[in-house]
Amino acid sequence: PPLSMLLNCDDFEKAFAKSGPQKANAYISSASNDLLSLNANKSFWQKLWFRPRIMRNVSAINTKSKMFGCDVIMPVWICPMGVAKGAGEQGECALGAGAAASGIIHCVSTVSSYDLGDVLASAPRTYPFFFQLYVDKQRQKTEALLKRLETLDQIKALFVTVDLAVVSKREADERIKTQENTASYLHGEKNKIDKKGAGLARTNGSFIDWALSWEDLAWVRKHSSLPIVVKGIQSAADAKMAMQMGCQGIVVSNHGGRALDSAPATILVLLEIRRDCPEVFDRMEVHVDGGIRRGSDILKAVCLGAKGVGVGRPFQCSVMYDREGVEAVAEILQDELETAMRLCGVTHLDQVRGDMSWLNTSELE
Ligand code: FNR
Repeated sequence: PPLSMLLNCDDFEKAFAKSGPQKANAYISSASNDLLSLNANKSFWQKLWFRPRIMRNVSAINTKSKMFGCDVIMPVWICPMGVAKGAGEQGECALGAGAAASGIIHCVSTVSSYDLGDVLASAPRTYPFFFQLYVDKQRQKTEALLKRLETLDQIKALFVTVDLAVVSKREADERIKTQENTASYLHGEKNKIDKKGAGLARTNGSFIDWALSWEDLAWVRKHSSLPIVVKGIQSAADAKMAMQMGCQGIVVSNHGGRALDSAPATILVLLEIRRDCPEVFDRMEVHVDGGIRRGSDILKAVCLGAKGVGVGRPFQCSVMYDREGVEAVAEILQDELETAMRLCGVTHLDQVRGDMSWLNTSELE
């Protein structure tokens, strides 16, 4: 379908399912086992209602925000997602260029199809990016990567992904046996076809260190001067640990339902942190991802206290339309966010951040 026909995030996923390569679609759309966390992420945003206020003069509003010191047009980052070249020839370069043109931030995955230098070059010279780190079993490789990041001043935060000690079972991905080698998508030399299922995910992820522990985060700290953001927090207890270790941020995430199946919907974790350890929101930037598909979801996340949200699959699917597709998704979210704010009676996001009085959570209690 032509780009102009796509009206919302779901449309991009549907368009990709229809017209994208079958194997890439299985990799992108799939999640673990029975898809319980995948579906819960999304449906739980739909169980949270607003408490709108009326007649508040919403003629002048703005969605501008700051994430880890970076000015953005709205508090959205494009999730780190592996091997974007599977979705479209320009891969991560489309995500980088599209993010920059839209005023949001691309968090570049460790397992990118393009070299990091090429991804950064897709945006204007000083445009900010975040970088997502998987710690390698071969620790010297991670050390070299961290050293390289120190020389790249466009990178403004280090998201360390901790929710995928082992790549989970993604049956849709494993069912499609193909000779198509991930080498054609993946930059670097980490990939050997996984014998079990030829799943792209398991093939790409076998280097991730399952021995990772909190002490290793201290090791990362020693080798990097970037703000450290722990991606994959799924409990208040671990949010507190990250805070006590002096991290600059967390991402409440279950990897878009691609890690532990039956991991709680990310909203539930945000609510748990608010209840059990509310100081986390004052001491660190709290971000969230998983199932965010509407501008209204972004507004809900902000009311729950989030400083920013990650959006994954819709952006990966938009790469089929090159950077114009990426810009289109950002524009849709921006427009929906503005409309939701106006109809709620909200003129700027700081006015509502962490203020639960804007929300009705009765369906979640
Ligand atoms: C991911 N995700 C992910 N996370 C990460 O830290 N490093 C990675 O390389 C990847 N790769 C990846 C590939 C694909 C195709 C998907 C869909 C996801 C997880 C991602 O960053 C994010 O947590 C979820 O995608 C958010 O959920 P939604 O927005 O896709 O529902």
